[in-house]
Amino acid sequence: MAKRAPAAEAHDYDVVIAGSGAAGLTCALNLADRFRVVVLSKGDISAGSTAWAQGGIAAVFEEGDTFESHIEDTMVAGAGLNDRRAVEFVVENAPAAILRLAELGVPFNPGERERFHLTREGGHSARRIVHVDDATGWAVQQALEAAARAHPNITLASDRVGVDLITDRHAEGGAPRGVYGLYAYDRANRRVERFTGRATVLATGGASRVYLYSTNPDGATGDGIAMAWRAGCRVSNMEFNQFHPTCLFHPTVKNFLITEAMRGEGGRLRLPGGRGERFMPRFDERGELAPRDVVARAIDHEMKRLGVDNVLLDVTHLDPDFVIGHFPTIYRRLLELGIDPTKQPIPVVPAAHYSCGGVLIDRAGRTDLDGLYAIGEVSQSGLHGANRMASNSLLECLVFGQAAADDIAARLATETPPAPAIRPWDESRVTDSDEEVVVRHNWAELRRFMWDYVGIVRTTKRLERAAHRVALLKAEIFDYYANFRVTPDLIELRNLVDVADLIVRSALARKESRGLHYTLDYPDLLPEAVDTVLTP
Ligand code: FAD
Ligand code: SIN
Repeated sequence: MAKRAPAAEAHDYDVVIAGSGAAGLTCALNLADRFRVVVLSKGDISAGSTAWAQGGIAAVFEEGDTFESHIEDTMVAGAGLNDRRAVEFVVENAPAAILRLAELGVPFNPGERERFHLTREGGHSARRIVHVDDATGWAVQQALEAAARAHPNITLASDRVGVDLITDRHAEGGAPRGVYGLYAYDRANRRVERFTGRATVLATGGASRVYLYSTNPDGATGDGIAMAWRAGCRVSNMEFNQFHPTCLFHPTVKNFLITEAMRGEGGRLRLPGGRGERFMPRFDERGELAPRDVVARAIDHEMKRLGVDNVLLDVTHLDPDFVIGHFPTIYRRLLELGIDPTKQPIPVVPAAHYSCGGVLIDRAGRTDLDGLYAIGEVSQSGLHGANRMASNSLLECLVFGQAAADDIAARLATETPPAPAIRPWDESRVTDSDEEVVVRHNWAELRRFMWDYVGIVRTTKRLERAAHRVALLKAEIFDYYANFRVTPDLIELRNLVDVADLIVRSALARKESRGLHYTLDYPDLLPEAVDTVLTP
């Protein structure tokens, strides 16, 4: 049985993994037979994006489909910015990764001819998405978690919020440059503890909650990106935040996704009012199955042109039993909200969904700092380029989770020097905050201007306005952080402002429109595709 992390101020393991989603748990399970691993999550173990994934996982299983086709589709969606070798690495390892999940007990829907039922999503030129109804992520999370809980070498440390990476700066008497674990705030004891190890893995997910409207769970605040940046890692392609075209538009339920697989199975986007015109064919010959950046931009354009709050996703022309059978979770949730999708179109809007950029890694998940790895949505592996293709992201978590584990195992098999003595967290110069309102206010302001100025369609003037506000907020938050004890909200706000800064700087640096970065001031594509790399 997995252990719970004991109540102690200092914890030492072979490997420290921050993040208990698909990436973190895959990495842990591939290490645990030989090493003692701790997996931290900042809330409940299942509270990351993984459990929310709906559509599925992309892999070549259909007869006639090929790796080459999956690679090409990924490169086309990514507007050529992808690292082809990273794409090949992930695509070629995809079928084996799915089979391992099936062995762990993930009940993928069976197919009639192929082993798995395969659905279709935007950008894919074949049926390629393996799924568990419309709640694939939940099934994956449950299977990985059950395996992790059953393993005696894995300690699950929930409610631990990573604050900063432990580096040579925190070592008594100095140490070689590298990472030795992280400081994490324990919600139960309200104190910051040390988690040390010979390798540290960031699997902390993305940063889409930097925007006002998002499909992501609350915790997607870019903590790993900010921690790695502050510790000295390069980050890359932060301007490419993906907006999912179809988030439910509802007065109270703000972040419920309506899966792209609905469009894959024939759903149509229509304008509200009038005759409910179908508009996607005016924008792209692939219609509703154009890549997400194209669909989200078309919706944004039509909403602004007509001054409407949402568009409609219509599946009323499909067989009701098919809709209910294929999308049971969405169907039930919509019925609870008074919308019967078999009889009426679903109101939808684009919302921030996925961070394509992140901590720069190589094909083993290694970052710039010795002993530090980054895997999953926190990373920029070269797979997604300027726009992630649907259902390639859980896949990236699985493939890089395993690759990082292999590299860590090789590293730990050689003589790595023991971690130096690490100083405890120093709270001698801070007090409890008497102005929590500052945190709440800055949080709301940040998300609002990111949505208004750094959204689907950008201009240099709006980005400069955003840069100005980021600088003001950064100074205020830094001051607050230096004077008051940390709280989970303050930790997240500090990370959000760092991530916003990285997004705005990257967006200002890109003098073209490519994939998810579309600016009216530079509408053309430059001949050469070049990553935006920021160095601390
Ligand atoms: P996550 O699953 O997000 O896990 C992050 C973990 O890090 C959590 O355990 C969290 O607690 C922990 N953490 C974060 N910060 C800290 C900190 N400071 N200290 C300690 N722990 C921390 N992708 C697909 O491929 N197919 C899909 O069908 C699909 N559907 C999606 C639907 C929705 C609604 C959403 C939101 C995303 C979807 N995605 C999909 C994207 C995909 O789910 C994510 O990219 C992927 O799950 C990310 O996994 P991860 O392991 O990197 O991070
Ligand atoms: C969806 O089901 O539409 C989400 C798929 C993804 O984000 O990959």
